[in-house]
Amino acid sequence: MRYQVKPEAYGEALSEVYDRMYPSMETPQTVDFIVSLLDPGARVVEFGAGTGRIAIPLAGKGFDVHAVEVSQPMLDKLREHDPLGAVTAVRADFAEHVIDGDFDLCYIVCNTLFMLPDPEQQIEALRRAGAHLRPGGTLLVEVYDPTYFHQLAKPEFQVRNLASDQVMIDTISVDPVNQVLAQVHTTIKAGSVSTFTEISRYAWPSELDLMARIAGFEMVERHGDWERSPFVSGSHRHITLYRKSAAGL
Ligand SMILES: C[S@@+](CC[C@H](N)C(=O)[O-])C[C@H]1O[C@@H](n2cnc3c(N)ncnc32)[C@H](O)[C@@H]1O
Repeated sequence: MRYQVKPEAYGEALSEVYDRMYPSMETPQTVDFIVSLLDPGARVVEFGAGTGRIAIPLAGKGFDVHAVEVSQPMLDKLREHDPLGAVTAVRADFAEHVIDGDFDLCYIVCNTLFMLPDPEQQIEALRRAGAHLRPGGTLLVEVYDPTYFHQLAKPEFQVRNLASDQVMIDTISVDPVNQVLAQVHTTIKAGSVSTFTEISRYAWPSELDLMARIAGFEMVERHGDWERSPFVSGSHRHITLYRKSAAGL
């Protein structure tokens, strides 16, 4: 079975609540980690930059930050948070677009690579990442480890508090054959209800490394969190660095 996903749909459905969906997200730790990889003034591009959670603070530290984002409502929020335009944002699908080939780092965080619904598109996005990078440039990918979800026997529920009169109920189910996790976000606000289904095509760490190799990268290091704890059995996600291999694409 092939899953169809309209890339703009996520932002159209969730841009209003996105900044409140992940209150415990480790933004300062993520920014510090990325800064530790960069020389002053480095050129950086984020795939799926959303409302600028990471891109804006990075630009504030003097880096030349570019953002590729497919959703206009998400870009509008990014601009609201960054009225002086410190981040250079372009509206495009990161599986189809290349700005230029001179970036030091491309990063794809918060499971965004998995939003592409099949492995071919994910490999294509990794190729595009390589096309953005100078020789020896770095690709950073943060995604969840699928182990826990892959064996879900029945749907799981999570509830988030978005505001005093607004909650989001997430119903998570898995199609293990196609390695697809479907997350139905049901938002209830003062009696009105909306739903949006987010599709996430997950890959195993070794599979991701293979896809990256196909796209012209070598795996350099993998961590279990932004503090560089080791990635071990039971880690919920990983942060992996790849280097654009000498042979290029
Ligand atoms: C989970 S959010 C992460 C946003 C941001 N990176 C962060 O960490 O807060 C994923 C973002 O990727 C965008 N996105 C999803 N698929 C995309 C694609 N194919 N091309 C460009 N942007 C995409 C979505 O619109 C959304 O803004």
